[in-house]
Amino acid sequence: MRRFSHYFLLIFIFTASLQQLKAAEPRRVHLIPEPVSVTEQSGEFTLDKSVTLELKSKNKELQQSLKWFSGKVQRATGIDISKSSGTKRISILLNTEVDTEIGKEGYRLKVSPQQITLTANTAAGAFYGLQTIIQLLPSDIEAKQQKAGLVWTIPALEVTDYPRFGWRGLMLDVSRHFFTKEEVKAFIDEMVKYKYNTFHWHLTDDQGWRIEIKSLPELTKKGAYSVKRTGRWGTFLPALANEESTYGGFYTQEDIKEVVKYAQDRYVTILPEIDVPGHSLAMITTYPSLSSTRKQYSVNSGWRTDPQDDNALDPSNEEVYKKLDKVFTEVAKLFPSPYIHVGGDEAYKGYWEKNPDCQKLMAKEGLKDVEELQSYFIKRLEKILQSKGKKLIGWDEILQGGLAPEATVMSWRGMNGGIEAAKMNHPVVMTPWDYVYLDLYQGDPLAEPDTYGLCRLSDSYNYEPVPEGIDEKLILGGQGNLWTESVPTYRHMEYMIWPRSIALSEVYWSPKSKKNWPDFMSRLENEFTRLDAADINYSKSCYNVVFKPTKQGRNDVSLTMATEVPGLEIYYTFDNTNPDLHAPKYDGKVLNFPMGASQINAVTYRNGKPIGKQINIKKEELIKRSEAARHVY
Ligand code: ACM
Repeated sequence: MRRFSHYFLLIFIFTASLQQLKAAEPRRVHLIPEPVSVTEQSGEFTLDKSVTLELKSKNKELQQSLKWFSGKVQRATGIDISKSSGTKRISILLNTEVDTEIGKEGYRLKVSPQQITLTANTAAGAFYGLQTIIQLLPSDIEAKQQKAGLVWTIPALEVTDYPRFGWRGLMLDVSRHFFTKEEVKAFIDEMVKYKYNTFHWHLTDDQGWRIEIKSLPELTKKGAYSVKRTGRWGTFLPALANEESTYGGFYTQEDIKEVVKYAQDRYVTILPEIDVPGHSLAMITTYPSLSSTRKQYSVNSGWRTDPQDDNALDPSNEEVYKKLDKVFTEVAKLFPSPYIHVGGDEAYKGYWEKNPDCQKLMAKEGLKDVEELQSYFIKRLEKILQSKGKKLIGWDEILQGGLAPEATVMSWRGMNGGIEAAKMNHPVVMTPWDYVYLDLYQGDPLAEPDTYGLCRLSDSYNYEPVPEGIDEKLILGGQGNLWTESVPTYRHMEYMIWPRSIALSEVYWSPKSKKNWPDFMSRLENEFTRLDAADINYSKSCYNVVFKPTKQGRNDVSLTMATEVPGLEIYYTFDNTNPDLHAPKYDGKVLNFPMGASQINAVTYRNGKPIGKQINIKKEELIKRSEAARHVY
C-alpha cells in the first residue's frame, strides 16, 4: 500500500512538472472567435513547397474560396500551394452525409505534421475553417507583401467549430460619410476574418442618398451630395446661399452588383437599409413635396437647425408610397438578402401633427396618434416588400403603434424592444447601443477623438444577446453598428471598429460557456500583431486607465482606478507632473485628492514599460462624471 502511494506521488510530481514546463511555453493557439472545441497536440505542420492543396469536391463556391486561400498564402509566403504536387497535403472535403453537430456554417479541422484535413457540410463552413487555418499561421500571413525567410508553421490540433448565432453582422453607415466600393470590399474582407456573415449597409439618411435608383435618377443626382464641412459634427454652419454641394457620392447599380458578388464569394449576406420615414432629408431635398412642410431643404452636412428640418416622409401622401415602391423594386432586385431594412427610427412626428392630410388619414383609418400613423406607414411598406418577395426588418421604433404582422425587430435603444417583440413571437436581431454601438467612446474621452457615450471593449465582450426568459431561437443574432457622423475617413473607421468588433464576433460565434475575459485578452493581444502586419488602425484604448469616481459631499470626489487589461500597473501623480515608474504606484485603494490638488495624472505600465496613454483629469471633471449615468463617460 505504501509503495503504491509513492508510485502515485511520483507520477503526480512528474505530471505537475510537465505542466509547469508547458506553462512556460508560449501559447501556440490564439483563435478568435474562440471555437467550440480545440484539442492541442504535439508537433506542427510546416507550410512549405512540399504542400499540396487538395479539394475533394466539385463545389464551385468552394473552388472560388480555395483560390482566395491559396492567393492569400502565396502573397505572404511566396508558396503556391495550388500548383505544388508535394507529399504534404491540405485536404478540403465537403461531407456527403450531413454532420449534424456542425450544422450549416461549422467545420472540423485536423492538423498533424503531414496533413491538414478540413471537413464541412457546406462551402461556407469550409470557408470558416480556412479562416481558422489562416489564423493558426504566424502573424505575417497578414502582411501585404511577401515575407522572406520565415518558417510558416501551424500547430497540430483538432478543432470542432460552429456558430452560436446565424446572424452575425456589422453595420456601416455610408450616408454620414461616403465610403467607396473598394473601401466597402476591404471592410468585408476584414469582417470575414472573424466569421461575420452579415453586412448591414445603411445606404440612406439625412446626409446622403447612396444608391442609384434608375427609375428615380434625381435621388443620387441631388440627394447624394452636400456642402463640405470639417470639424466637430453637429456644430457646422448650414449651407450658404448658392454654395455648391460637391461632397459625397453614391454607388451605381453596377457597383452594388459588384459588392454583392464580392460579399457572396465570402458568404456574406448584405442587408440593405433604406431609412424611412424619418432620416429622409436626402430624399426630401430631392422631392420636397414628400414631406409635410413641403419646403426645399439641403442635404445635411452635420448641422443642427431650430426648428428642425422636416426630415420625415408624409405618410398621408400617396406619392411617397409610389416612390418607395420604385425604390424597393430596384433594391429587391439588387440584393439577394431575404430581408430589407426600412429604418423606422427616430422619426420626428411634430410636422405630422400639424399636417391636415395626416389628420384626415388618421380619422379615416381610426389611428389614435402619430405612433399609430407610423405603424400604418410601416405596415404598408411591409406589403410592398412582400410583393417583391422580401421580409421587413426595422429599428425597434416600429413597435410603436403596433408591429407589422411579419416584421423582424432590430433592437437598438436597449434590449427591451427586442424582448417585447420576442414575447409576441417576432424574430429579433439584438443591437443595444450601450454594448454594440461602435461610434461611442471606447476609452476615457479625454484620450479619444470626439464622439459621445461610452462602450468599452469589455462592455462589448461581456454583452449577452439573449435576455433571461426569452427563447433563444427568436434571437437571430446581433451586430456591431458603426454610425459615421464622426468618422470621416477609412482609417478612423478601422479605429472605431477594431477591436470591439473582434470582441463581438466572439459574442455571436462562440459558446456562452467559453466566455473568459483574461483568456480573450491574451488571444486579442496576439491578434493585435496580425492587425499590425495588415496595417489596420485598431484602437489600443483598452490599455488606458479607467477612473471610477465617487461623489463625496457637495464639492469633493474620491476615486479608484482600474484597467480593462488584466495585470497592468498604474502610476499616478497629484502634483501636475508626468507619472512614471518613480511615481506612486496605485495599490487599488480609494484615493482622495490632497488639499489643494486639482487634477490627477495617471498612466499604465506593463513589465516596466508604459503601455497606455497618460490621462490627466481634473477634479471637477471627476465630480461631473460621478453624477452621470453609466455609459455616459
Ligand atoms: C439608431 O441608432 N437611430 C438606430
